[in-house]
Amino acid sequence: MSNISLAEKMKAVHSDIRGPVFEEANRMRQNGIDVLRLNTGNPGVFGFGLPESLRSAIAGRLDEAVPYCDLRGMPAARAAIFNYHKKKGLPNISEDDIFVGNGVSELVTMALLPLLNPGDEVLIPAPDYSLWTNSVHIAGGTPVHYICDEQNFWYPDPADIRARVTPKTKAILIINPNNPTGAVYPDEILREIAQIARENNLVVFADEIYDRLVMDGLKHTSMGTFCPDLFCVTFNGLSKSHIVCGFRCGWMIFSGNKAIAKDYIAGIRQLAAMRLCANAIMQLAIPAALEDEESTREMLVPGGRLYEQREACCSVLDTIDGLTYVKNHAAFYIFPKLDAKRFNITDDNQFAFDYLHEKHVMIIPGRGFNWPQPDHFRIVMLPEPEALADAMRKLKDFLATYRQG
Ligand SMILES: Cc1ncc(COP(=O)(O)O)c(C=O)c1O
Repeated sequence: MSNISLAEKMKAVHSDIRGPVFEEANRMRQNGIDVLRLNTGNPGVFGFGLPESLRSAIAGRLDEAVPYCDLRGMPAARAAIFNYHKKKGLPNISEDDIFVGNGVSELVTMALLPLLNPGDEVLIPAPDYSLWTNSVHIAGGTPVHYICDEQNFWYPDPADIRARVTPKTKAILIINPNNPTGAVYPDEILREIAQIARENNLVVFADEIYDRLVMDGLKHTSMGTFCPDLFCVTFNGLSKSHIVCGFRCGWMIFSGNKAIAKDYIAGIRQLAAMRLCANAIMQLAIPAALEDEESTREMLVPGGRLYEQREACCSVLDTIDGLTYVKNHAAFYIFPKLDAKRFNITDDNQFAFDYLHEKHVMIIPGRGFNWPQPDHFRIVMLPEPEALADAMRKLKDFLATYRQG
């Protein structure tokens, strides 16, 4: 028999969050080495418990989740999602504009497949959460990365976006709050991006899965509120805000000018029908979760875990020579920069391997987020403050003598 070769559309796909550094960490663990894994934003493995509101919403109701449900999602779940986004100001939405999925991850592919013909381009932030870049490849399109500006709090650079629009550009993605930078974008930037989409007839994708995880008194505005005349797809879910990554619970919602997207929406409906429905059990939790703002909020204020973990992490980062960072105002990620000259950094993967081998802490190199230079990496700030501060002290110690090459 001849070899089975990898399909062309898969060749550019890379998931570094569970890639070579992750595999090496697993090998080390199998050999009895205790590795602190700061690779995925998976709060459940760091002792964050299931919120009681979700536990009681599901308890005793398994029988309701036995049959396939509506291909768009259970009516009660969609009603709650509708109310949530109505309150956030998304224009021209209805319960029929919502598709519940097995996490946002599944829905991204579902949203891209009916849009893209071979060679069609999608504007994606750099750094990005690589799900999006990978999914564009798989859908046959071409990801084109626009720069988020570290000198300007990691906000997208509208001039750079404009420069990258071509006749093949079909859509633009905004990840706000952002993974891996933790930035929350101001309204002026969102308005400017909406204007670029307007001038170039682009579909707007807004990944807002971290919108409930905003700190420091900042307010999150949904991108769709600036796009009443454009077609916008907003993505959200419970994985992060309610600590239930394993439930696989996400949704997307269409807003704005839906009249121009009838065929596209019919395509999405076909894909949703093909997989019959999303996991029904987790949908029972959606109404309770979206009413329970408190369990999320208490993590984000002084004394709360996410707030204190960030403070603990930053207080050590502040003391590391040759390392700079922009403090995140949302989520639990930070994307520091290494002084490339000082450490002679030419390979960020090598840096991640070296830190892992020497200090038994796993971080993900910037290339995992499609960052074009080898001088960044992402820290997941989910361990308890002292454990995180300890990992950062190890980083400081490691960098004190580290030189690459
Ligand atoms: C920006 C972003 N979008 C989507 C996802 C996927 O979320 P889900 O668990 O809903 O598939 C993640 C997960 O880390 C993320 O960071």
